[in-house]
Amino acid sequence: MTEDIANEDEFDSLSFFSAGPVRCVSDDQSTHLFEPSNHEEPLVDTEEEEGVYPIHILDLPSHSQNPPFIVLDTILKLLKKPDIHNFHASQAPSSESNKSSVETLEERGITLEDASQTLEWLTANSPVMGRNMNQLVFSTTALQASASNEPDLIAYYTKLISAPLHTLSKITQQEHETLLSMASNLIAESSGRASFPTFTRKIHLPGFKQVVKLIEPAMSYENLGLKTWGSSLHLSSRLVNSDNWQRLVKGDVLELGAGTGLCGITVGLLARQYADGGVGEIMLTDLEPIVKNLKNNVEVNGLSNDTRIRCEVLDWSNPESFIKIVDVGKKYDTIILSDPIYSELHPGWVRDMIKLFLRHQSEDDGLPGGKVLLEIPRRERFEKEREDLWHLIDEAGLIEVESEEEEGFDDFGEQTFLFKCFKWK
Ligand SMILES: C[S@@+](CC[C@H](N)C(=O)[O-])C[C@H]1O[C@@H](n2cnc3c(N)ncnc32)[C@H](O)[C@@H]1O
Repeated sequence: MTEDIANEDEFDSLSFFSAGPVRCVSDDQSTHLFEPSNHEEPLVDTEEEEGVYPIHILDLPSHSQNPPFIVLDTILKLLKKPDIHNFHASQAPSSESNKSSVETLEERGITLEDASQTLEWLTANSPVMGRNMNQLVFSTTALQASASNEPDLIAYYTKLISAPLHTLSKITQQEHETLLSMASNLIAESSGRASFPTFTRKIHLPGFKQVVKLIEPAMSYENLGLKTWGSSLHLSSRLVNSDNWQRLVKGDVLELGAGTGLCGITVGLLARQYADGGVGEIMLTDLEPIVKNLKNNVEVNGLSNDTRIRCEVLDWSNPESFIKIVDVGKKYDTIILSDPIYSELHPGWVRDMIKLFLRHQSEDDGLPGGKVLLEIPRRERFEKEREDLWHLIDEAGLIEVESEEEEGFDDFGEQTFLFKCFKWK
């Protein structure tokens, strides 16, 4: 397999990521960070008479109180970051902020019995948290949600990890290992997108009922396709706009560098919803280490039995193995590309793939030629590569027929995205 980066010395793909610094606070340093709790103002007014009051890190169970496993397990599950919806908290559906405590427990895999046992222990050992079930659930999730608590929470998780097993006499060795793994994952979650453990991103496309679920495994720096990128949300949103999709997507579809597969999966869901809608084969491709997760995502979204959809390895620098598995001379009517340019070699490779696989207008049957749909973020450091791409596409005989700039988000903040559609001149 060819590296997807031109030169590791020149290109550090992790510099895409703006992970915040991890601050681990030692025991001595941590005490001054702890302000007294303010239990005066309720966080939430519940239907019951009592409101939900904010808690402080010091209200969480500590190993010195020798809590049973179920208490720490429940608290760590409540401290997990909530599901990621699209790329920014503002893109989560409103139903997410109106969950009841029972719904929140269920979503986090906490049984009512475990929550009741936790509450009982807290009532005796941390009365502020143990007032009632709403207080337990909402005060803990609110503690996690406040960015200013992150350093103290990391210190809390670190303390749990470093607590020797013999100080936790109610906990077995196996339970201890489970807690270590949960606390380590919580530290990783707090250390920026590049350190996230495996999670599922939920994608809400405008006017589209089905939430697209994308598994994103823990990443290594060279496997950028294990993460979903903001461009794919913009391109997919454009496609689900019913005025647009059949105009833009038709015939056999090839997605290059599909990553977690959002664009190809969206086309598959649209084709199913509109009883094919003029779409033929949908071929999702990427480098070998990415394709297994791509297949999983096709399955998670209920498309694995759809014979139109295939996931295969297609390396832009060496397409021979792909050419062997499709018909010789195979051409596609629509080529989809989302965020494919981040090395000096990418523009040339992308041009080669377009020349190799985009259908020309047929003189025999008069069928129109194919289209290329491209969404690309305007990252400053790859401006030259983008210019190279426009130049090479023009030289290859294509003409731009649509272009639009849009503002949006990637995981690392605001970003400008550029959509372009090309066809043969
Ligand atoms: C920034 S990611 C974008 C992924 C996905 N399209 C998205 O927008 O979420 C770039 C993708 O291009 C793929 N890629 C990079 N070099 C490649 C190559 N030589 N051949 C095939 N795919 C490649 C990567 O594996 C990755 O999935």
